[in-house]
Amino acid sequence: MTPPLSVHPVTPVIGAEIHGVDLSRLTDAEFATIRDALWTHCVLFFRDQDLPIERHKVFGARFGELVVHPNDPGVDGHPEVMPIHADRNSVRATGEQWHSDVSCDPRPPMGSILRMHTVPDTGGDTLFANMYAAYEALSERMRGLLDGLTAVHDGGPYYREVNRLVGRDDGGRAYPSAEHPVVRTHPETGRKALFVNQMFTQYIVGLPAGESRAILGLLFDHVARPDFQCRFRWRPDSVAMWDNRCTQHHAIWDYWPETRSGYRVTIRGEAPV
Ligand code: SIN
Repeated sequence: MTPPLSVHPVTPVIGAEIHGVDLSRLTDAEFATIRDALWTHCVLFFRDQDLPIERHKVFGARFGELVVHPNDPGVDGHPEVMPIHADRNSVRATGEQWHSDVSCDPRPPMGSILRMHTVPDTGGDTLFANMYAAYEALSERMRGLLDGLTAVHDGGPYYREVNRLVGRDDGGRAYPSAEHPVVRTHPETGRKALFVNQMFTQYIVGLPAGESRAILGLLFDHVARPDFQCRFRWRPDSVAMWDNRCTQHHAIWDYWPETRSGYRVTIRGEAPV
C-alpha cells in the first residue's frame, strides 16, 4: 500500500517535499493538503511524477486558469505549456536571475508548476527565496519607507533581450507592464511580502531616479540572502510548484553542454494589493 501523503520541510524558512502522492490522481483531501502546504512552505517539491502534458495541465488547472506566456509560443497544441529547455546549442537558459514569473503582468501569476523530464548529471539546480522572510528581515524604518510605495514592472527590456539572444523576431510586439505595490499582502495568508525583482522591476514611482535605483539595488541584493533560500536538486520526473506571490527563484545554468528539459504551466493570479 502507498504511504499516505506527508509533508517534509526542506528548511525552516522555505520549501517542503511532499511524499506519498500521485499528482495525476489527486483526491480532494490530498489537493487541500497540498494547497495548505503551499501557503505554509511557499514552494513544494514532488519526486517520480509521471505527468505528461495533459495531466500536468489538469493538475495546474485545479489551482486556477492557466495563462499563456507573453513571450513564449508554448508547445504545439498547448499554448499554455512553456518548454524550459537548454542544451549544447543554447545561448541562454530561462530564469537565470532572481525573479517572480511574469511580474510585469497586471495580474501576475499566482503560481507555476515545473516538471523536468531530462536533467544533467550534476548542476541545473533551482534556488527559491522566501519574500515574507525578506520583508520581515528589513529594519522597521525601511519597512515603513517601503509600505505604500509602488514600482513599475515592465516585460519589454527583458523579453526583447531574450529575443535578441535567441534570434527571434518579436515583430515589434508590446509587452505587459504594470504598477504594483513594492510590498504586497498575500491574499491567502495575509502576510506581507517584498514584490520587486531584478528581471522586471524598473523603478519606484514618485522617487528621483537615483533614489529609486539605490533602493532597488539594496532590495535586489537583500532578496538574494542565503538565509531566505532553499536549493532544489532536480531528478527526472521531479516537479516543483511555487507561489509567485511570496517567492522568487533563480535557475542556475552551470551544466553546459548537457541538456536540461521540462515543461511549465503558470496559473493566473490577482492584481497585487
Ligand atoms: C523559470 O521558470 O524561471 C525556470 C526555472 C527553472 O528552470 O528551474
